[in-house]
Amino acid sequence: MNKIAIYPGSFDPITNGHIDILKRSLKIFDHVIILLANHPTKTASFSFSDRLKMLQEVVQSIDPVRLSVDSTTGLTVDYAKKHHAVALVRGLRTIPDFDYEHEIFTANQFIDDSIDMVFFMAKNHSEFISSSMIRQLYKNGVDVSNLVPAIVLKYLK
Ligand code: COA
Repeated sequence: MNKIAIYPGSFDPITNGHIDILKRSLKIFDHVIILLANHPTKTASFSFSDRLKMLQEVVQSIDPVRLSVDSTTGLTVDYAKKHHAVALVRGLRTIPDFDYEHEIFTANQFIDDSIDMVFFMAKNHSEFISSSMIRQLYKNGVDVSNLVPAIVLKYLK
C-alpha cells in the first residue's frame, strides 16, 4: 500500500529548510502532498496563488511523480483523512517550535487520532531560517540565494 504523507504549512515563501524536510520525508513515504493551509493569525506577504505557483515549481524541480501540491481552508487532519494519508509531516528547529508543534499535535489527536505526526529536526543550518526572516534579510539587501529555491528569489525580486 502506498504510504501518503501531508506536509502542511503557510509557505510564505517556501525555503530551503522546508525543502530539506520534504526530501527527507520522501525517504520514508511513497508520496508527499505539500498542503498550503491557513495559519489562524498570520497575514501572508505573498498571495495564495503566488505561494501555490512557487510550490508547484519546486515540486517540478524535485520529484513531480512522488510530490504534489494542494491547498485547504479547513483542518489538515480532515484533509489527510480524505486523501488516505497516514501522517502529517512537520519540521522542528528550536524549543519554541517544539511547544507549538506539541500543541498542534494534541489538538490534531483530539480531532482524529488515526492520523499521526512525524517530525524532522532541522539541519544544514536551517534552524535560523524562517519565511519572515528570509523576507526581512532580502528587504535589507542580504543575499538569500543560498536559503531559498531559485523561483522564490524571482518572486522576492
Ligand atoms: N525550515 C525553514 N523554516 C521553517 C522550518 C524549516 N525546517 N520549519 C518551520 N519553519 C518556519 C516557517 O518558515 C515559518 O516561518 P514564519 O513564521 O516566519 O512564517 C514558521 O516556521 C512556521 O511555518 P510553517 O511550517 O509554514 O507553518 P505555519 O505555522 O505557518 O502553518 C499550519 C501552520 C498552516 C500548518 C497550521 O496552522 C494548520 O494546520 N492550519 C490549518 C488548520 C488546522 O488544521 N489547525 C490545527 C488544529 S486546530
